[in-house]
Amino acid sequence: MTKKITIRKADAKDIPAIIVLWKELMDFHKKLDSYFTRSAMGHKRFADYLKKHIHSRNFRVLVATDEEQMVGYCLTKISKYPPVYKKQKYADIFDLAVTKKYRGCGIGTMLIKSVLQWCAKRNISCFEVRYSTKNEMSSGFWSKMGFRPYLKTAFLET
Ligand SMILES: CC(C)(COP(=O)(O)OP(=O)(O)OC[C@H]1O[C@@H](n2cnc3c(N)ncnc32)[C@H](O)[C@@H]1OP(=O)(O)O)[C@@H](O)C(=O)NCCC(=O)NCCS
Repeated sequence: MTKKITIRKADAKDIPAIIVLWKELMDFHKKLDSYFTRSAMGHKRFADYLKKHIHSRNFRVLVATDEEQMVGYCLTKISKYPPVYKKQKYADIFDLAVTKKYRGCGIGTMLIKSVLQWCAKRNISCFEVRYSTKNEMSSGFWSKMGFRPYLKTAFLET
């Protein structure tokens, strides 16, 4: 591991490598909770979604690379709160993943700092993320980034 990490905006050519990380992210979560089981075509659907939005104004797809190897990515979308709230826009962080071998050396922090900078230029100061209650790694990470829980999502399967 060389650890000469670069954070940059993703391009369409990065999608296959992002999909590899996405599968790792999903399968990591599936071990914690079967809710996160991917569908047979899930990777294809996600690739199509990325292809459609990767250059959209309201999306920010970042990748972390070590030389040529992609080791992490982060997907953020600018969303609107319902018009009953004083706050209007927020950055919704959909995905954040660092490949196992590279975790714990600051790459997740670099990705989120880059998202915060991009949002600051757009006068966006609210950020949201959803993470599994079973994922202690992510609760530790988001807490360190300054995020505080404010909602609980409940799930029922009949
Ligand atoms: C969560 C994740 C993105 C964090 O990225 P990372 O590069 O490993 O994190 P960093 O090295 O920047 O760590 C920053 C802080 O997060 C916290 N953290 C990191 N790993 C942690 C762990 N295993 N347990 C608890 N807290 C942890 C620590 O407070 C750490 O600060 P410190 O190094 O001063 O102790 C990465 O570990 C990952 O991809 N995990 C698997 C997938 C996942 O959980 N994704 C998030 C879904 S919302």
